[in-house]
Amino acid sequence: MNPADYDAWYATPRGRWVGDTEYALAKRLLAPRAGDSLLDVGCGTGWFTRRAAADGLIATGLDPDSAWLDYARARSPGDVNWVEGDARTLPFADAGFDHVLSIAALCFVDGERQAVAEAVRVARRRFAIGWLNRNSLLYRQKGRGGGSGAYRGARWHGADEVRALFSGLPVRKLTLRAAIYLPAATRWARALEQTIPGALPWGGMLLAAGEKA
Ligand SMILES: C[S@@+](CC[C@H](N)C(=O)[O-])C[C@H]1O[C@@H](n2cnc3c(N)ncnc32)[C@H](O)[C@@H]1O
Repeated sequence: MNPADYDAWYATPRGRWVGDTEYALAKRLLAPRAGDSLLDVGCGTGWFTRRAAADGLIATGLDPDSAWLDYARARSPGDVNWVEGDARTLPFADAGFDHVLSIAALCFVDGERQAVAEAVRVARRRFAIGWLNRNSLLYRQKGRGGGSGAYRGARWHGADEVRALFSGLPVRKLTLRAAIYLPAATRWARALEQTIPGALPWGGMLLAAGEKA
């Protein structure tokens, strides 16, 4: 998929709702302060990186795809850093960022556990990592048979599998929250989303967040 088509989805009513809902959850779990640093691993076209920068964070987006990074760079304010790299070998110092964010990216990485360990290594305070949830309506619509569109090739996990990716790592207060329970994003779906506690592990996005120990 080309980056312009991918990013354009975030300008559609459904894409905007999905992005806003996921970003709001990640922000609540990270609880950053303006001026904190944040690394977005697997940033793609940088939609979440730009949101973080707009919230006053010192944002860095990392992705292995140079074309997507070029797209992100051309659409961002000059103070966002864009780095070409791999989630499994992050080119950053231990505890180099106050916060590490990653949305629907590590599920495309062969060797997710190594990527999770790297995300935790470079986090100083908190991390929030989002996976696609196999136990969700979104999976039934977009994930089966290898997946469709931007979901093609992704691994979909259940909550226990996501938790297991953190075993043995220096984290505390690991919390799983879900979002995007009814992916159709109709008026009713949006209203219902407000009433479902994110602790129910059936949303399309599973966000694992915690503190660096
Ligand atoms: C579905 S996109 C998500 C992009 C962005 N986080 C978002 O939510 O809009 C998946 C991203 O994972 C990136 N990715 C794939 N393999 C990766 C790796 N080994 N390290 C870091 N990112 C990777 C892809 O290049 C792509 O940008």
